[in-house]
Amino acid sequence: MTLPWRVVWITGASTGIGAEVARQLAAQGITVAISARSADKLAVAASGHGNLKPYPLDVTDAEAVTATFSAIERDLGPVDLVLAAAGTYAPVSLEDFSPRPFRIMYETNVLGVVNVLSAVLPALRRRRKGHVAWIASVAGYRGLPKAAAYGPTKAALINLAESLKPELDGDGVTVSIINPGFVKTPLTAQNDFEMPFLMEVDEAARRTIAGLAAGKFEVAYPGRFVAILKFARLLPYRIYFALIRSAVLKR
Ligand SMILES: NC(=O)c1ccc[n+]([C@@H]2O[C@H](COP(=O)([O-])OP(=O)(O)OC[C@H]3O[C@@H](n4cnc5c(N)ncnc54)[C@H](OP(=O)(O)O)[C@@H]3O)[C@@H](O)[C@H]2O)c1
Repeated sequence: MTLPWRVVWITGASTGIGAEVARQLAAQGITVAISARSADKLAVAASGHGNLKPYPLDVTDAEAVTATFSAIERDLGPVDLVLAAAGTYAPVSLEDFSPRPFRIMYETNVLGVVNVLSAVLPALRRRRKGHVAWIASVAGYRGLPKAAAYGPTKAALINLAESLKPELDGDGVTVSIINPGFVKTPLTAQNDFEMPFLMEVDEAARRTIAGLAAGKFEVAYPGRFVAILKFARLLPYRIYFALIRSAVLKR
């Protein structure tokens, strides 16, 4: 597959999906600026491949995000694709319900993406060229148990993409939303339940890259899990909650 990008910027690229997409793109000769908070992990990744360029960053710091994007364009040239993959997950239980996990997940997952968009969109719109993509989740399709904080952040990211796409299309900027099911990464390693349709991270990265290269608006995988959850989105509440009670809560 010939990929249409020369320079790519990926946030959340120290581990998991972001790191693997970066590795696969670098292996294809693309220069990839990689960001995350862990400078040590980024340095190790970059020492393994000359096309990986580390730019440590906390995406919740809006000024740092803008400064990092300027540094990347100064060092590497115009960025063709921005993939905002930085995200965090923690289950929410009713026993220790508090605003803290909500604040962390909303700031990282939602405002982290907004900070990236706010930094890159002026340049991309001016050039009338470029592709912005961010990772939401199939957990954003409908409310799920334990995902009271994570799910709404991902629903917000899907809605954000739907909201921005029509106008950005007119500006020559492509928008994509990535909705993975369960992927084997440090983020899901904490899950104490059997994850249906669990996908290896290299496969998730391959599908992400293929979908983005094809210019798709939604890149969602694995197909059967996505189809089941999209169907569940159409169910009336009475049936949906009965299914959740019996299939997920087992009561
Ligand atoms: N794995 C799944 O099953 C799955 C399914 C659907 C959606 N997703 C989404 O896919 C994305 C990647 O997840 P993953 O599974 O690959 O998880 P992961 O391995 O935990 O990777 C998360 C990445 O985000 C970075 N990060 C977290 N907070 C950050 C911050 N404040 N500033 C900058 N970077 C930050 C982490 O690096 P540092 O800790 O070094 O900052 C890491 O590089 C997330 O948005 C996640 O919600 C994952």
